[in-house]
Amino acid sequence: MDGLFELTGRTVVVAGGAGLIGTALSEGLAAQGAAVVVADAARDRGEQVAETVGGRFVETDVTDEGSVESLFETVLAEAGRLDGLVNCSYPRNENYGRRYEDVTYADWRENVDLHLNSYFLLAHRASLVMREQGHGSIVSFGSTYGVQAPDFSVYEGTEMTSPVEYAAIKGGILNLTRYMASYLGRDGVRVNTISPGGVFDEQHPTFVSEYERRTPLDRMARPEDFVGAVVYLLSDAAGYVTGHDLRVDGGWTVC
Ligand SMILES: NC(=O)c1ccc[n+]([C@@H]2O[C@H](COP(=O)([O-])OP(=O)(O)OC[C@H]3O[C@@H](n4cnc5c(N)ncnc54)[C@H](O)[C@@H]3O)[C@@H](O)[C@H]2O)c1
Repeated sequence: MDGLFELTGRTVVVAGGAGLIGTALSEGLAAQGAAVVVADAARDRGEQVAETVGGRFVETDVTDEGSVESLFETVLAEAGRLDGLVNCSYPRNENYGRRYEDVTYADWRENVDLHLNSYFLLAHRASLVMREQGHGSIVSFGSTYGVQAPDFSVYEGTEMTSPVEYAAIKGGILNLTRYMASYLGRDGVRVNTISPGGVFDEQHPTFVSEYERRTPLDRMARPEDFVGAVVYLLSDAAGYVTGHDLRVDGGWTVC
């Protein structure tokens, strides 16, 4: 088993690496030996995370083709290799999160574009670099709500909801991943998703208790809960794993 989960000497780009989950991933991957590139639009936070993990921050707008090109050019110029990509950004517009009835077609289009299409853009560009190298691993963040429909009863008594765009975005990311896994397998590029359950982030207490009551492991997720799954999928331990959706959800989707 020695070294099976080792990432020393590997360069991993964490898109959204300054976010709630991305920060924990950047720390966890660095602890496992990876050279972490934090790619995020949030400069101050991104620089801070990169400094903490001894990695590199590249200010990136994942929705902008030129910015993404420049990200991978920088990584290749500096590290000369790209072993892993973690798609963990969360781009959305200012109207995101409205209830179903209030979602305009323009907002639907914009939010699907920002999130689903940027995940494609990064995964596509990274996979072409990895194919040249003959190896690489891509992990994109889906959601339990890309696997099954929301249980709206957990939002009762709060202003919260699960946005309708999210269902299409996350379902799309899961099936895009299967396509890429099939297309790129012979080139040594593995492509997988992680579907997280909801992360505790000071939400309304009624929601939190309803969510926990419905979750077999009896709690909401913590950002660090996803580190092991990402390390696994990026490492040699998952050398025969591609096209998989690894659910890290406390059992939410089995009920
Ligand atoms: N938090 C949860 O409960 C939860 C549950 C299931 C799935 N997920 C998924 O996990 C992923 C990360 O979620 P999170 O909760 O950490 O989100 P977050 O909002 O805390 O962090 C997202 C990061 O993405 C960055 N970002 C946003 N737009 C960007 C852009 N255009 N270019 C570059 N960076 C940009 C932000 O600056 C931020 O650092 C998302 O795919 C989300 O759907 C989250």
